[in-house]
Amino acid sequence: MCGYQAVTEKKKDQPPRIVESWSLASLPPVSETMLQQWRQLIEARTGMVVEPNRTTFLQTNLASRMRELGLSDYAAYYRRITEAPDWMVEWSVLVDRLTVQETRFFRDIDALRTVEQYIAELPRQQLSQTPLEAWSVGCATGEEVYTLCILINEALTQRGLKPKFGVTGTDISTPALNKARTGIYPERRLVEVRPEIQQRYFELVRPGQYQFDRALMKKACFVRENLAELQNALHFRMQIIYCQNVLIYFKKWRRREILRHLTERLAPGGLLVLGLGELTNWQHPDLERLSTEHTLAYRKKSGA
Ligand SMILES: C[S@@+](CC[C@H](N)C(=O)[O-])C[C@H]1O[C@@H](n2cnc3c(N)ncnc32)[C@H](O)[C@@H]1O
Repeated sequence: MCGYQAVTEKKKDQPPRIVESWSLASLPPVSETMLQQWRQLIEARTGMVVEPNRTTFLQTNLASRMRELGLSDYAAYYRRITEAPDWMVEWSVLVDRLTVQETRFFRDIDALRTVEQYIAELPRQQLSQTPLEAWSVGCATGEEVYTLCILINEALTQRGLKPKFGVTGTDISTPALNKARTGIYPERRLVEVRPEIQQRYFELVRPGQYQFDRALMKKACFVRENLAELQNALHFRMQIIYCQNVLIYFKKWRRREILRHLTERLAPGGLLVLGLGELTNWQHPDLERLSTEHTLAYRKKSGA
């Protein structure tokens, strides 16, 4: 059992502060009503649903953050998060703890082949005149963004074209985006990178830590963006929108809503790639489903 450390609640008007003895403190159990309030808050602000089978995950992460702050009352923490202006930053810390950020380079090779094929078929004139814009939605720590950078760079170079392109990564987690901006990754995130690609685009900077190609990093940009507020997103006329392993955290009606906004932001002829099985029986009048066996992908009609 953890030794219980008496912790004092911060005064209401004080901003959150980490207390040093946090790891020793244990918290009293939380009521189902309180957990329900937390679930509702998370869904209202982010769209993410914390399913009952993830209650332990929710409770553990709330408790761990409260311990760090020296708080022992879930209701008091909830009130501060929802009412105190000084605690707005704390919300983004908590959201980071409550999101699953599992990712890696070249995670879905079939989907990436679809992107490759798509670029290979784009008219040369278009690629040499207009920069190709791609968007990784829910990019976590950036591996998907840099994977797209490698793939597009290779595809354009193979066609003898200048690498005119940009990849935008968006996510709700500020710490994840900050990690993405460093471009430094542990070896385990690179397990699916082919040796010649690893050699060309990564440099070992510390034992087990790789730096992504700094020149290519300039093609990437990371923006904090909440999928629950996608109507405000300013990226339009995206040629490729890549959205995988994110929609699963949302209710079906929200997934459709998100996809409607993404479709609006796709350029005519653009490619939308989703995770296989993330949405079944979905159609949009402006999109045609591509007949790819292991990938869920759509192309926006040219006249749309
Ligand atoms: C499992 S990761 C997926 C990473 C990457 N797309 C991949 O497939 O490897 C899910 C990401 O979605 C992000 N996310 C969850 N809810 C979000 C929201 N409401 N707005 C934006 N991003 C969100 C999380 O922060 C997390 O980084």
